[in-house]
Amino acid sequence: MDISTNYTITAGELKDKVILVTGANRGFGKAMTLDLAKAGATVIMLGRDLGSMETVYDEVVDLGYQEPVLYPLDLEGATPEHYEQLQANLFEHFGQLDGLVHNAGIIGTMMPIEQYDIKLWYSTMQINVNAPFMLTQFLIPVLNKSDDARILFLSSSVGRTARAYWGAYGVSKFAIEGLSKTLSEELEKTNIKVNSLDPKRMRTKMRQTAYPAENAEKNPLPESMSPAIVYLMSESAKSLNGEQLTLEISS
Ligand SMILES: NC(=O)c1ccc[n+]([C@@H]2O[C@H](COP(=O)([O-])OP(=O)(O)OC[C@H]3O[C@@H](n4cnc5c(N)ncnc54)[C@H](OP(=O)(O)O)[C@@H]3O)[C@@H](O)[C@H]2O)c1
Repeated sequence: MDISTNYTITAGELKDKVILVTGANRGFGKAMTLDLAKAGATVIMLGRDLGSMETVYDEVVDLGYQEPVLYPLDLEGATPEHYEQLQANLFEHFGQLDGLVHNAGIIGTMMPIEQYDIKLWYSTMQINVNAPFMLTQFLIPVLNKSDDARILFLSSSVGRTARAYWGAYGVSKFAIEGLSKTLSEELEKTNIKVNSLDPKRMRTKMRQTAYPAENAEKNPLPESMSPAIVYLMSESAKSLNGEQLTLEISS
């Protein structure tokens, strides 16, 4: 299902919502953090680089948007104990969670499976699949406290149609699609709606790494796509569950 990026954010439309975004310090995660805060949500910014997280925090506050919360965590090294602690912190400070956006990810390397670096395969699977699985498992009880919660998994076209040489990244996104669909069925009768989203091409570090020779200027900026994330967290998108969503690049 296509989702338009031509969404006009209304100040306060996500007031009182608490939304956790992984990889919130740069790229698409930063863009959605700004827009979600603009819409009035309190964004829990999860990331591993505190310096760039603080820079985004300052930007949000300087713009007069809802103040975010910084949550430093490296998803590669995080253990169940770290997620348990996060769950406890969310219960203590907010009592509920209304949105969980699994945005963080790494591209791994472009390589035939036959030669794929085994250590990098493990890292990619840990960050792109195992971390979202554990994070979701520990945060379901907090999401259950919301009367309208969303989980969004960032996916990719290579997680829906296999493409040679995309290796662990492509396989990890196939796994994310499976996780999203399975969860959406398990949580069908709850207030938690679960969807996956292919944002298509965006002018970020990840895209540049995957396509070093292309003219990056032709790719849309993540800020032009992120209003759609506000829509997906809003009341208007309440009926979406178990969908494979794709962002529609507006010309
Ligand atoms: N850009 C595209 O064209 C495109 C297309 C299809 C799908 N996507 C998907 O969209 C999402 C965002 O992509 P993007 O283009 O914004 O990527 P990006 O610019 O490379 O940003 C990736 C984010 O993930 C974080 N991250 C990576 N490893 C982490 C770890 N171990 N712990 C915590 N955070 C970690 C990064 O933090 P650091 O700064 O610390 O590295 C960064 O904030 C990804 O899931 C990607 O697969 C993107």
